[in-house]
Amino acid sequence: MAIKFLAIFVALSGAVNGAFTKRATCADGTQIATRESCCVLFPILKDIQENLFERSQCGEEVYESLRLAVHDAIGFSLSKGPSGGGGADGSIAAFASVETAYHANSGIDDIIFAQAPYIAAYNITPGDFIQFAAAVGVSNCPGAPRLEFFLGRPPPTAPAPDSTVPEPFDTVTDILGRFTDAGFSPPEVVSLASHAIARADFADPTVPGPHSDSNPTIFDSLTKGSFKAAMAKLAVLGQDVRKMVNCSEVIPVPPKIATRTHFPIDITEKDYSIELPNVWDVTDRPTEMTEPFGV
Ligand code: HEM
Repeated sequence: MAIKFLAIFVALSGAVNGAFTKRATCADGTQIATRESCCVLFPILKDIQENLFERSQCGEEVYESLRLAVHDAIGFSLSKGPSGGGGADGSIAAFASVETAYHANSGIDDIIFAQAPYIAAYNITPGDFIQFAAAVGVSNCPGAPRLEFFLGRPPPTAPAPDSTVPEPFDTVTDILGRFTDAGFSPPEVVSLASHAIARADFADPTVPGPHSDSNPTIFDSLTKGSFKAAMAKLAVLGQDVRKMVNCSEVIPVPPKIATRTHFPIDITEKDYSIELPNVWDVTDRPTEMTEPFGV
């Protein structure tokens, strides 16, 4: 009897929830969104997948878009307040002549230039576009988590100051300190900075090729769940989330990964267990094998 009552209750509450989930048909008639304000994103999604990401590839523009999203967002400081930067506000694009001159932003002008026509063509702020492009781009990479996207960042009012973006030759203490000042714990930094889909062209020009990841076309990080959570936090740094709309449903579902996660070269499960006991996803533990560089 109790079970029957429970079943009826579950069925009824499901029906009621369904009845209250309003879905808006977007103006083009082909898309349906839970929230009407998300409709503006569908034409942008189609355009950037076709053109910026060259038919939904997990390629250079994706890596650069993700790096851009981070470099824009990390222009934020809990200790300095507004003078420490506006976070994920698009200032890196709106004040490109200032921010691209910072050493940590070497080479980032390419993607700012590539994204500029889309920001100009659509009714979207630079802050929204930069985070949207990153979330969409990452969805093209097999194995990646489906990132969240919230819409509604106001236009930026000032460039972020220099030295908000950590540099590769900074000490670990300095890098962690910079992220702490933006609100991130060390495990969150590890999850974020996995460079699971990344190349490096400027940091050390004497080393050719993709020397920050052996297989940049798949997202084979050990930290997918925590990467997703930390990216969600990063993408709204400095923003009033209460005034934003959750449009995560517009972000495509990434393809599944064909192989299991691998340890980076020279690293074993023991190293991870000692150094990073809590950051990897137990559902996706890597194999013992390492993957040859350049695959
Ligand atoms: C923790 C501090 C970090 C440092 C010191 C750092 C450093 C670097 C460096 C030196 C490069 C190579 C740039 C080049 O020479 O072309 C790079 C590329 C990249 N970084 Fe980071 N990074 C950090 C955090 C992050 C985070 C948190 C993310 C993402 C969530 C990220 C995503 C990327 C991506 C996608 C690229 C590749 C860009 C491309 O292929 O053009 N980085 N990073």
